[in-house]
Amino acid sequence: MPDTMALETRALTRSFRARRAPDRTALESLDLALPVGGIHGLLGPNGAGKTTLCRIASTVLLPTSGTARVLGHDVVAHASRVRRSLSVVFGGERGLYTRLTARDNLRFWGAMVGLDRRSAAARADAMLESVGLADRADDRVESFSRGMQQRLHLARGLMGDAQVLVLDEPTIGMDPVSAHAFRDLVVAMRDEGRTVLLTTHDMAEAQAVCDTLTFLDRGRVVAAGTPRSITREVRTVRATVTDVLPEHRPLLQARGFELLGDGTAVRTVDRDDVAGLLGALMAAGMVHVGVEAPTVEDAYLSLIGGRRMDL
Ligand SMILES: Nc1ncnc2c1ncn2[C@@H]1O[C@H](COP(=O)(O)OP(=O)(O)OP(=O)(O)O)[C@@H](O)[C@H]1O
Ligand SMILES: [Mg+2]
Repeated sequence: MPDTMALETRALTRSFRARRAPDRTALESLDLALPVGGIHGLLGPNGAGKTTLCRIASTVLLPTSGTARVLGHDVVAHASRVRRSLSVVFGGERGLYTRLTARDNLRFWGAMVGLDRRSAAARADAMLESVGLADRADDRVESFSRGMQQRLHLARGLMGDAQVLVLDEPTIGMDPVSAHAFRDLVVAMRDEGRTVLLTTHDMAEAQAVCDTLTFLDRGRVVAAGTPRSITREVRTVRATVTDVLPEHRPLLQARGFELLGDGTAVRTVDRDDVAGLLGALMAAGMVHVGVEAPTVEDAYLSLIGGRRMDL
């Protein structure tokens, strides 16, 4: 089936009963088509529906209506096939046996995904190595830091050879170096031909690794495309002036710049107004002026930022 998607949803809706309140709709008639291969980022504010989608894709939560298919298999009608094709890693501390060692957790999980004893043991060792936990393999998980537990979650997710990996905030709580190594691992998974569905609140991470992005807000898709196609839609760019001289400060403030502690000034500006603005600054004698292309974070802020903290 050449057009089989890694994850495809049609009018996928999930609502939850709320106490003494109308039902809460976590996903509202969602249509998604994520192709096989690649790292697909799922971005959106708290409560957007990202985890709900991950849970439906991994068959632990049923849709209220609509359909979801993983590699062509319906998550309701063919749940066991879906479970064989997909592996899920949730952020946080759930799902590990904290009184067992890292190695025993992975061996146990290997048995769960159908490996025989010897293959499970070998695979567990290989995975501990690849997530940098080999020297803590025989320590109980309860003695692990959050980032270490997170790495063990990923190792667990890789015990089988699922073609689709669902990673829900996998780098939450990881230090920057570990998060970087983790991203390399995710890219390696993609390069082996697997499909990765990644939710994250880290915009730099999304920009660095994702081949496609889907922005969700209140259970609906608000934008989808490649990082480049999405950032190209942003109507504003970021203007910067570095090495600001004291005599230039009043003009910059009058022009709406924010003066930062490191001697730079920044503001966002509509693309159409860039030339005029920079011209005025240069005419006033400023030479270190520039414009940065919009980032995924800029796209996120322009699509979703207006809402601030309301849920
Ligand atoms: N088991 C549940 N019972 C009731 N409501 C739920 C349940 N699970 C999720 N919801 C609601 O569904 C909506 C979407 O939640 P979800 O966890 O999918 O968001 P999210 O995008 O993963 O957010 P976050 O970025 O905070 O992880 C929220 O309004 C949430 O309160
Ligand atoms: Mg979530």
